[in-house]
Amino acid sequence: MGRIIIFTGKGGVGKTSIAAAHAVRAASEGKKTLLVSADMAPNLGDIFETEVGGNAVPAGDNLYLLELDPDQLVRENYPNISKAMRNLFGSSGLALDNLDDEMIIPGFENLFSLLKIRDIYNSGEYDLIIVDCAPTGETLSLLKLPELLSWYMEKFYPVGKTMVRVMAPVSKAKYKVTLPNRKAMNEIEQMHWSLVALQELLKDPDVSSVRLVCTPEKMVVDETKRSYMYLNLYHYQVDGVFINRILPDDAGSDFMNHWGSIQKKYIRELESVFAGIPITRIAWYPHEVRGRAAIQHLCDDVLGDKDILNVRVHTDNEIYEACDGGWSLTIRLPGAAKEDVTVYQHEMDVNIKVNNFNRCIPLPNTLTGAQIDGWDVADGFLRIQFSKKADGQDETAEAGKDGK
Ligand SMILES: Nc1ncnc2c1ncn2[C@@H]1O[C@H](COP(=O)(O)OP(=O)(O)OP(=O)(O)O)[C@@H](O)[C@H]1O
Ligand SMILES: [Mg+2]
Repeated sequence: MGRIIIFTGKGGVGKTSIAAAHAVRAASEGKKTLLVSADMAPNLGDIFETEVGGNAVPAGDNLYLLELDPDQLVRENYPNISKAMRNLFGSSGLALDNLDDEMIIPGFENLFSLLKIRDIYNSGEYDLIIVDCAPTGETLSLLKLPELLSWYMEKFYPVGKTMVRVMAPVSKAKYKVTLPNRKAMNEIEQMHWSLVALQELLKDPDVSSVRLVCTPEKMVVDETKRSYMYLNLYHYQVDGVFINRILPDDAGSDFMNHWGSIQKKYIRELESVFAGIPITRIAWYPHEVRGRAAIQHLCDDVLGDKDILNVRVHTDNEIYEACDGGWSLTIRLPGAAKEDVTVYQHEMDVNIKVNNFNRCIPLPNTLTGAQIDGWDVADGFLRIQFSKKADGQDETAEAGKDGK
């Protein structure tokens, strides 16, 4: 079974360099490896000092490089769908009270890069696919898209093609959206299934994981902690943290040593937040990571004799349990404070909002008719209590911000 490792982190912290080191190491171990950039501003070509484009190019034994161009992917694979989906999701201001701020989807095209990565995975051509992602914010928006879009699709296309044809003339007025034409509809239906399969792949702990790259400074540490929380919210596995650009113990001057002591404080914080996840420290080199020799140096230095490449950390991020008087759903939300979180139920969906990130979890069938009783956030876990409603009660419950 192949594996997908996704690298993300704040802008400029060393994602591409560290992803490249992983790729070089994996290839040297005999794994057929693809290093693929899903960043709109890819720079694999720069770092490997070679020409890279929309088709995989060899870069040594077992190693291939690819820079995906989402526009090209859409043109070649989904000629109708982009416009149809923009009409549906992007421009309508569709009034859905539970996901109001999600309607404009920035970087929507990048989704096609993920779909392409899935196709490549399914082709079985590579043992390992290493994905060099855009800075965190964009990556998180991207990683939540498959679930978000398939959720919308199920809401708006539970009816199948015939009904869409019947509904089309009135759909604009009734739903304030433009339903796609039938040609696009085929693609949208295909897209729906592709998105469901993509989610399964990216959230399968035996296949996919995310590795976070950061530097020991306040803004970066804060963003890294937040992204860890959101990745957990969306049920992604995080199995590596790389602290880059660490100054030596004696950096040669009081000025630099002062920065070194600031870095130490943040390194300690990262080690406590990410206890249980392998953390790798990387020195601040006196040179850029550019060209094969520099990547190899990083690779030997960082991945040296460690088996970091093959590490896997499985955490149960989403647990349903029967408990007194009903069920509970526990979601891992490391670092979340109760005031950041809102939980409410809409029919058979539970909406969890953590700051600006929304997740909509369709409840399993066993919870049909269940209502949220209350919820709480403690010790990095959100716990939602459900009980079965008595017949005839209202289907929709607002648990309210205080969780009661
Ligand atoms: N440990 C290090 N020591 C010195 N320079 C480094 C180190 N790690 C990365 N660099 C340099 O820092 C710059 C940014 O690295 P890189 O491109 O890997 O970051 P990135 O997170 O991928 O950036 P972006 O967000 O722009 O994609 C590059 O010039 C790289 O050579
Ligand atoms: Mg990069």
